[in-house]
Amino acid sequence: MCGIVGYVGQRSASEVVLGGLARLEYRGYDSAGIAIVVPGNSLVSHKKAGKLSVLRDELEANPLAQGTTGIGHTRWATHGPPTDANAHPHLADGGKLALIHNGIIENFDELKSELQAQGEQFHSDTDSEVAAVMLGRAFHETQDLTLAMRAVVARLEGAFTLLGVHQDQPDVVVGARRNSPLVVGLGQGENFLGSDVAAFVAYTDKAMALGQDQIVTITPDSVTITTFEGDPATAAQFDIDWDASAADKGGWSSFMAKEISEEPEAVANTLRGRISPEGTVTLPDLDSLLDQGGEITRIIFIACGTAAYAAMLGAYAIEKWSGIATTVELSHEFRYRDPAVGPTTLVVSVSQSGETMDTLMAVRYAAEKGAKTLSICNTQGATIPRESDAVLYTHAGPEVAVASTKAFLSQVIAAYLLGLYLGQHNGHISAADSALLAKDFDALPGQLQEMVETGGRIKELAGWMADTRSVLYLGRHVGYPVALEGALKLKELAYIHAEGFAAGELKHGPIALIEPGQIVFVIVPSPRDPSSLHAKVVSNIQEIRARGARVIALAEKGDAAVLPHADEVIALPFASVFMEPLLAVVPLHIFGMELAAAKGLDIDQPRNLAKSVTVE
Ligand code: F6R
Repeated sequence: MCGIVGYVGQRSASEVVLGGLARLEYRGYDSAGIAIVVPGNSLVSHKKAGKLSVLRDELEANPLAQGTTGIGHTRWATHGPPTDANAHPHLADGGKLALIHNGIIENFDELKSELQAQGEQFHSDTDSEVAAVMLGRAFHETQDLTLAMRAVVARLEGAFTLLGVHQDQPDVVVGARRNSPLVVGLGQGENFLGSDVAAFVAYTDKAMALGQDQIVTITPDSVTITTFEGDPATAAQFDIDWDASAADKGGWSSFMAKEISEEPEAVANTLRGRISPEGTVTLPDLDSLLDQGGEITRIIFIACGTAAYAAMLGAYAIEKWSGIATTVELSHEFRYRDPAVGPTTLVVSVSQSGETMDTLMAVRYAAEKGAKTLSICNTQGATIPRESDAVLYTHAGPEVAVASTKAFLSQVIAAYLLGLYLGQHNGHISAADSALLAKDFDALPGQLQEMVETGGRIKELAGWMADTRSVLYLGRHVGYPVALEGALKLKELAYIHAEGFAAGELKHGPIALIEPGQIVFVIVPSPRDPSSLHAKVVSNIQEIRARGARVIALAEKGDAAVLPHADEVIALPFASVFMEPLLAVVPLHIFGMELAAAKGLDIDQPRNLAKSVTVE
């Protein structure tokens, strides 16, 4: 939450900073602002409530003076409503210093009172302005931004990434981080700071992930990292494996439309090089983790939202293929209930951003309890993989739309690979079953492409449902997480009440919601499934149909048992049990997007949300 950019070099800082903010806007879009250090010792700043486009329009009408050092911010409001005054940067030291902040300063009230008692004036409701005022005062004393930042962070509690510039140190940007993300982009004669690499990927593919409680000082020719105490420190350097065009819309009407179209490729990328045609899974990071010794008797997934639904599918597969007891917990519930976690527990976090604060805190909790930690993550250099014992990158490419789509599929695949790996490691799964799964995986990208191509049909459906006020989703076994995911997409994108239920739970209460005209999506298992689930789901359809529901079934091609009972059928290719949910979810992603479009809503930036939820 909140996007942060810093630049120092030879280029126009406002161009670099505004370009970076455009790529980071998915992190928050309540307001945007920029500050530039202008040669000849002055600092100019402008900030506006609303999306970045509002600020851009303003700057076009009233351009800022040019400089080659600058910082910029897009905000997701926590303290104080989205107004111009609460937008960042916040100025201090008589307007000579500018500061931007991501996170929450928990002791800001106490600090603010202390500063007010000393005669300081505040111009916003934010916690962040406290840090700006403190940095201004500390600079006054030290005449050095790095030393001043050190003095400030020593007094702050909570989560923060801070960037500061001062007109008296024109070629310097200083950053600090605790519990919020900050990465450094390494250029030639220029350096960058950003909440993630999207901020500077247009200029460099070399980056460094700053560690916890570190301060970084960038000039055009140097990057200096210290601890909060001032001791020299280092940070891991890495190459960014996608280029700027991957983070562009590339002619699509929305990032979400583009990212849904990339679902087949995302799955292929997650699988690439990790499974042989015979089904043998290679995961070197897992080898090292298991080589450290100790048995794994239990797996706990921790994740939030869509990532948690991906984890549910992973858990079903892992338990089946490896026989290891596996459960899923919402990260924000996990650490507050004193879970029984120890050295034989593998805690697997699933996070597209790798920065979700609830999940990060749960990973830290698990590590403290002695558990092994594995991160399934899409973002290189993010905090969660950096702090985990091992990482399984999903390689889905940048996901910019706030609603997660391709990341969901790649997370499921990564978790499946983990299950297969563990099953092969402990001998629970046969070579023949592994080989069958390898064939399924191989067919999957092509089958997903077929599902992406159902888009036109789904758009028509969404068109006639634009006035719908409630939609229900039903599924059993692997269909249940898909139902939850379909409902979440509709809530967050189309602002429609939507619920996903395990179909077996219907008769325990939710069936009372069914009234004539209620739209219900049902994920129907394959009739070839050896369990009796298909028949049970068809019975569930009949039960709700009898009460007037309009049923849209996602069912295997040619499933004759469903046809008489459904108002619409979206046909799925033949697939095995664990592949079917991946196919069924694609039309539900498209449906959420198209219903939002039919209602004229912003698809990529739904209200009240932000990608990368870096507050608890
Ligand atoms: C829903 C969505 C969210 C995220 C959740 C976790 O479309 O995107 O529910 O899945 O906030 O985010 P990550 O995966 O970054 O930890």
